[in-house]
Amino acid sequence: MKFRVVFLTAHAVAVFTAVGAAVTHWPQPSLPTSPLYNGLAKTPPMGWSSWNQFGDLINETLIIETIDMMDKSGLRDAGFVFVNLDDGWQRYKGNRSYHNGPIEADPVKFPKGIRYLSDYAHSKGFRFGIYNGPGQQTCAGYTGSEGHFEEDAATWASWGVDHLKFDSCCSEGITAPASRVEEIFRNMSKALQATKRPIIHHACHCGWANVWKWAAKVGANHWRIGQDIPDDFNYPGHRDNYYFDVLDMLDRGKGLEKYSGPGHWNDYDMLIVGLNGKSSQLYGTGCSNIEYRTHFSMWCMVASPLLIGSDVRTLGPYDMETLLNKEMIAISQDPLGKAAELVRDDPRIQTELYMKEMSDGSPAIALLNRGTFTATMTVSPFRDLGKWWPKYKIRDVWKHEEQGVFNFTNPYTVEVAPHEAKILRITPMR
Ligand code: GLA
Repeated sequence: MKFRVVFLTAHAVAVFTAVGAAVTHWPQPSLPTSPLYNGLAKTPPMGWSSWNQFGDLINETLIIETIDMMDKSGLRDAGFVFVNLDDGWQRYKGNRSYHNGPIEADPVKFPKGIRYLSDYAHSKGFRFGIYNGPGQQTCAGYTGSEGHFEEDAATWASWGVDHLKFDSCCSEGITAPASRVEEIFRNMSKALQATKRPIIHHACHCGWANVWKWAAKVGANHWRIGQDIPDDFNYPGHRDNYYFDVLDMLDRGKGLEKYSGPGHWNDYDMLIVGLNGKSSQLYGTGCSNIEYRTHFSMWCMVASPLLIGSDVRTLGPYDMETLLNKEMIAISQDPLGKAAELVRDDPRIQTELYMKEMSDGSPAIALLNRGTFTATMTVSPFRDLGKWWPKYKIRDVWKHEEQGVFNFTNPYTVEVAPHEAKILRITPMR
């Protein structure tokens, strides 16, 4: 009997502290301590990038029309503020050493120059990004920055650039020692710092050399965790032994959450929402509406940068609704900057439950069905989240609806369609 009283008391204290802790003692965001940290990207960068849909088939009209559409459609106001040129803006193909002088934009694709585009982007409340690589040539064979880091950084700064994707293009090989690759990105961080212009640094290295372990130290704000994404949700194996589809990328990120946070993010690659198998660049047959929504939801959960990769001028209403879900974006942009962790899985029916801690103490949860049959999933704060919350409420982020109040004897249970992710917010109640 005495034992029982002690147990109940301890139980009551646990309940009190768990509920109280959620409100008052939540961990604070921690920024990188490296002297090369530029103070930027305190939440995962959001915007648009030209590569996934267009490859190097880009030009001034496309970028202006994209900016106008992102303005008109509400994408900018929802947080998608970066407009980033990927590879193919440069004037020349071939080795940089064949061309003396400063790096130039292709005068046919961009007759008014890059400064004109960045001014236009800024005038409409956007930020502007550019791409290049550290070698003689970029991935698509355009002139790289080898031997010209400082000069190119100064050129981009003079053009009003706010974001640089600096892409090694796996060029030093999968076995390149981390120290060699670190040096490359450290040198570009220093070159960017020397311009005195705040420029986000994306250190793109195919997700090799354990880049997540050292990239923040050398001043990078985000880094790819895997090779390129194709327009596939779950292609058997890796397409061409290279590409990481949506589920591959999520698998790749498991265990890497701790390397991500405000100012320094694991990058799961640009979004494929809305490509519908029609990209002129990416392989893949496209995904269903539900799969694209799941992909977007999970990228928000794992705190990846969110760069739309499709043609925003032709996005359909379902995809627009996906990208404009403010509750979902609030999960991505939460100032605590935690990436979701896998906390439970059931390989038998291919379901997974992820939890992302949030600054207001109401975690976000993803119930992901990777399988091809509808799955019934439940959430238990104690079993799944290690939280002793006898009573809690649940909100469905895609339905925009409270689902009710739940407890030990009446846990939240829901059917999850094949390849769907239910995204929930769970809030303890006294
Ligand atoms: C690599 C990158 C892509 C894209 C292309 C451009 O493949 O991983 O995201 O930037 O280069 O050539």
